[in-house]
Amino acid sequence: MESRTGTPVEGDNFFGREKELTYAWKRINTGNNLIFPSPRRVGKTSFALKLVEIAKQENWQVISINLEKITSEKAFIESFIEELKKSTAWGIIKEKGNKLFDLLKQIKPTYEHEGIKISLEWQSQKEDIYKQLADLLDHEKETLIFMDELTVLLSNIINQEDGHRNVSSFLHWMRELRIKSGSKIRWIFCSSVGIENFTHTHRISTTMNDMSDYFLKPFDNETSKAMLRKLAERDNLDLSFEIQEAIVQKLSFCLPYFLQIMFEKITYLFKVEELTLNTEIVEVAYKALINEKHFNTWDERIQEQYADLSNQAFVLLKHICQENQGSRRENLINVLSAQNQNPEEVESAVTHLLYMLKNDGYLMEENNLYLFRSPLLRDFWFNRFVK
Ligand SMILES: Nc1ncnc2c1ncn2[C@@H]1O[C@H](COP(=O)(O)OP(=O)(O)OP(=O)(O)O)[C@@H](O)[C@H]1O
Ligand SMILES: [Mg+2]
Repeated sequence: MESRTGTPVEGDNFFGREKELTYAWKRINTGNNLIFPSPRRVGKTSFALKLVEIAKQENWQVISINLEKITSEKAFIESFIEELKKSTAWGIIKEKGNKLFDLLKQIKPTYEHEGIKISLEWQSQKEDIYKQLADLLDHEKETLIFMDELTVLLSNIINQEDGHRNVSSFLHWMRELRIKSGSKIRWIFCSSVGIENFTHTHRISTTMNDMSDYFLKPFDNETSKAMLRKLAERDNLDLSFEIQEAIVQKLSFCLPYFLQIMFEKITYLFKVEELTLNTEIVEVAYKALINEKHFNTWDERIQEQYADLSNQAFVLLKHICQENQGSRRENLINVLSAQNQNPEEVESAVTHLLYMLKNDGYLMEENNLYLFRSPLLRDFWFNRFVK
């Protein structure tokens, strides 16, 4: 097992989660579609890719598509066909698929709206195009369709002209495919910014109500230490039991990603900076990590996805990161009241934001107190926005 800090892990670099994989695969195999709504960096993509690997071993057809860089519905359909081309079914559907591809290519962008090219022709043919695309799918053949970063595409579409209507009909189109009676196609979605927040905010939750949530958890202490040992073994690093314990205690919320960056930092400090390999190195590594870029995406995603509420989200997080024991809801209402004089608006913003920030893995609630889920993230936040 090699250390990887960033890209999804595959093959031997994927550690643990055996029971979860067995369970999730069984759910898929017994007719369920799954969504992994867990917060950032929990390991969703890696987990989903593992399910894709299992599906292939079981001779399922697989369509895997990352929506992160896709900015329009037209681009989505093109990518979808490209992925279908790689699948075993292509031989049979080739003719229909190529016809649709040609049709899409003929549709020329006719005007630009906020940098995004939109075609009038596309709008008029859209319904037919989606119908043709649906016709390419063989519901008799066991197929796993994996879509990563669904919310990113949805957010892109919603920000374009007629966004709400387009997102809603897009999600309804997919839902129709999923609930088709007797279909052997199964779907898995990942979304690092809660899909639930998105559909709830835009009041289109019904379009996803056939999907089962599956929450991936952080690693427990024993699994965390086992992973650290496995990484250390590969690097010939003498990571004592005390150091393993110190890492787990320090992180307290052990996402595999946090374990990986901690391990990598300790390795660097030992091998390059020549620090002694003892429990103190854990403190030095931790301090270094909270000053680095690893959590920038947590900051950026709020700016991108929380729209009008992003400023207020920052105000709350800035307050909460200074209170190690957590903050009461009433305190948070007071904090926002300093900026907004309308009590009803403040109340509703706090309710909505706490719901979203919990869903997205920033916060947790314990005994009516709201606090950062991860001390590492809290200390990063403090360093970046308060100090
Ligand atoms: N099972 C695992 N074994 C080892 N490392 C893992 C595992 N899962 C995740 N990681 C670590 O976490 C990092 C992020 O994994 P991944 O991209 O799968 O997470 P994600 O939840 O999809 O993240 P994002 O929310 O940013 O899309 C990996 O680069 C790796 O360091
Ligand atoms: Mg991912």
